[in-house]
Amino acid sequence: MALFRNLGLLSKITLVIMVILLAFFALTSYVRYRQQRAFIMEEAVEKARIVAFEAIRAREYISDELQRGGVELSKERYGMIPVVASNRIGLLVAKDLGYEIRQVSERYRNPENAPDDFELEVLERFRNSPQIGEEFAITSVAGEPVFRYLKPFIADQSCLQCHGDPADAPAFLKEIFPLDKDQAYGYEIGEIIGAASVRIPMQRLHDQIYANVRNDLIVIGGIFLALITCLGVLTRAAIIRPLARLGKGIQEIIYTGRFEEKIPRRGRDEIGTLIDGFNEMIDHLGEKTQHLEESEKRFRVLTETARDGIISFLSNGQIILFNRQAEKIFGYSKREALGLTVDHLVHQECASLHGVGVSDYLAREAGQLMERPREIIGRRRDGTRLGLDLALSVAESDGHLFYTAILRELD
Ligand code: HEC
Repeated sequence: MALFRNLGLLSKITLVIMVILLAFFALTSYVRYRQQRAFIMEEAVEKARIVAFEAIRAREYISDELQRGGVELSKERYGMIPVVASNRIGLLVAKDLGYEIRQVSERYRNPENAPDDFELEVLERFRNSPQIGEEFAITSVAGEPVFRYLKPFIADQSCLQCHGDPADAPAFLKEIFPLDKDQAYGYEIGEIIGAASVRIPMQRLHDQIYANVRNDLIVIGGIFLALITCLGVLTRAAIIRPLARLGKGIQEIIYTGRFEEKIPRRGRDEIGTLIDGFNEMIDHLGEKTQHLEESEKRFRVLTETARDGIISFLSNGQIILFNRQAEKIFGYSKREALGLTVDHLVHQECASLHGVGVSDYLAREAGQLMERPREIIGRRRDGTRLGLDLALSVAESDGHLFYTAILRELD
């Protein structure tokens, strides 16, 4: 906090604005990331849906064409089996796109179509609630996050030829997949045979998200930067420079003590008002100083021309004023006297003060001394005694008592 307080005004303003903008920037980034992520996920679902439909439509199409042409399937034409063909086409297309599509089933015919844990779980869900038309999620495959999409296959009449009663199945099928190992028989119409399973590596999606967010942020960051620069230039011109000039002006006036000098005003804004206020204050100060100087001069003339000796001292006895007549009476110069205490001016024969000390004496006698003048025996610089008529008064200044003695030499 202390560090912040010691910073320059421009640094402070810039810092505060930077913090605000940074917070805003972070928030914007987060919101944009969330938006982009949602958008990309939607797109991923859409793509996966298309890929899965492609596979289903391809299978249906090939199946229709084979039936219409009366093509007899055989071991040699294995690749023409609709589900096999669509699977392979799907594989090729998905490979181009960097995706992966498989056809999986809990009761698989080809062990290559065995579902993994996630697929198994979703297939079970499809089986229990056939109304679920699709399912997607982000899971981890071999440590990498992957977007996954599954769409169930519902058995229709055409499927039963190879997935219904094994007795109806083509002989070559039973040859390739012996009945004792083939689990893909015994389905009924409407039952879920398996699912199309699409995988999209999240890295691909993330790359897209980051690319979009980055472009957004470059634009926003550019705007913020321009904003900070403008604000910096503006505060410098409108606040910092005028304030610095004002500070320098004030310093100069204090340093030189030339109160008649003025700080030039530039505008009618708050700083202008501040300059006006300062100039006014300087005017007052100038006037007051002048009054003070004049009254001091009058006082000096008064004390110096007085025919009585005038000595002021503090309650500890230290002399603070010693006029010309006092110099004449005691033989000390003003300079010498100002270094002394009043004790030096009282002769030891003056019993009342002797041996007591000024402060005690004053505490004891001041009341009486002030009531009426009295005679005391003074002591000159050369040690000789002299009779004096003394009148004492006391006053207070700055919380200290000080005494003024008016002395007249007795003839
Ligand atoms: C002409 C025979 C035939 C017909 C008709 C047929 N299939 Fe298949 N099906 C197969 C063969 C052969 C495989 C093994 C594919 C492979 O080797 O990948 C298979 C595999 C599958 C698989 C992959 C899981 C597994 O068991 O290996 C699913 C899912 C599937 N078929 C669904 C269907 C559906 C749904 C229909 C009807 C729309 C259908 N099949 C029609 C022969 C057929």
